[in-house]
Amino acid sequence: MSNTLDNTTPGRALITGASAGIGARYAHHLARRGHDLTLVARNADRLEALAGRLRADTGRDVRVRVADLSNAPDLARVEQELRDDTTLTMLVNNAGIGSVAPLLQSDPAQMQAMIDLNVTALTRLTMAVVPGFVARGHGTLINIASIVALHPEMLNGVYGASKAYVLGYSQSLRHELADKGLRIQAVLPGATGTEFWDLAGKPASELPAGIVMSADDMVQAALAGLDQGEFVTIPALADPGLWQRLEDARQALGPLLSHNAPAPRYGIQAPGATGTNG
Ligand SMILES: NC(=O)c1ccc[n+]([C@@H]2O[C@H](COP(=O)([O-])OP(=O)(O)OC[C@H]3O[C@@H](n4cnc5c(N)ncnc54)[C@H](OP(=O)(O)O)[C@@H]3O)[C@@H](O)[C@H]2O)c1
Repeated sequence: MSNTLDNTTPGRALITGASAGIGARYAHHLARRGHDLTLVARNADRLEALAGRLRADTGRDVRVRVADLSNAPDLARVEQELRDDTTLTMLVNNAGIGSVAPLLQSDPAQMQAMIDLNVTALTRLTMAVVPGFVARGHGTLINIASIVALHPEMLNGVYGASKAYVLGYSQSLRHELADKGLRIQAVLPGATGTEFWDLAGKPASELPAGIVMSADDMVQAALAGLDQGEFVTIPALADPGLWQRLEDARQALGPLLSHNAPAPRYGIQAPGATGTNG
């Protein structure tokens, strides 16, 4: 894909879910890379404390936007800002919640809230910012998915499916926008040591230490992957050839999936193809 960017000024990055965990580490590293920031989350105290530290440490302009992205009026406010702010060069769609509960023990309202945040908000924020990126001829979209996009069986099924959506949406955006100067990255973290796990129902301290990466290492690896032009970054995967083999198999399937007749193994004979001419 084309990675044509105006790199003369880093511009402003808007980060959702910036008050804690992975989002807060993105804020830290992007400010050090020279980005001004707009930090979005619900917890005003945490956002203000982080913004204050970043202003003091880096001298960047850091704005705070308190918003519940699963609430329609709050989401609309952030969408409007994404449309209006022509200094934006990056959106990090990071805010998300998960669950470890099996489907039969899950609360439908909680599953809906997960879809509202992980899917609906991410979709709408992307649709708000991309036209400006296209008009300006550059922009970076980072979508935080998860390795459960590839293995929805690992945790709660709605969570896995929501992250498969983020990957599929990113693949489609990359396909549609490849020649528009946009840089698009889908990040698939494995288990990362944040409050995510407490909220999901199983503290990270209960996971095998060997599978849990620190949020700071995860974000540094993801930004290194961005710099290297990766579309999909899986920070823990040592052999990127494994991902490529999966991707090659997917691409090979593409032309074989739609045909005017069912596959022979189903034994359905098309009209006029009975072999008896009658
Ligand atoms: N931790 C992992 O193992 C892991 C692995 C793979 C992928 N991920 C993904 O990484 C992303 C970040 O997760 P994390 O591990 O950093 O979790 P975290 O520490 O719980 O942080 C989540 C962030 O999202 C914000 N948020 C939650 N609900 C929100 C809402 N309704 N509106 C606006 N902001 C909201 C939270 O802030 P407020 O509470 O202040 O709103 C917080 O800033 C998520 O998309 C998650 O699915 C995490």
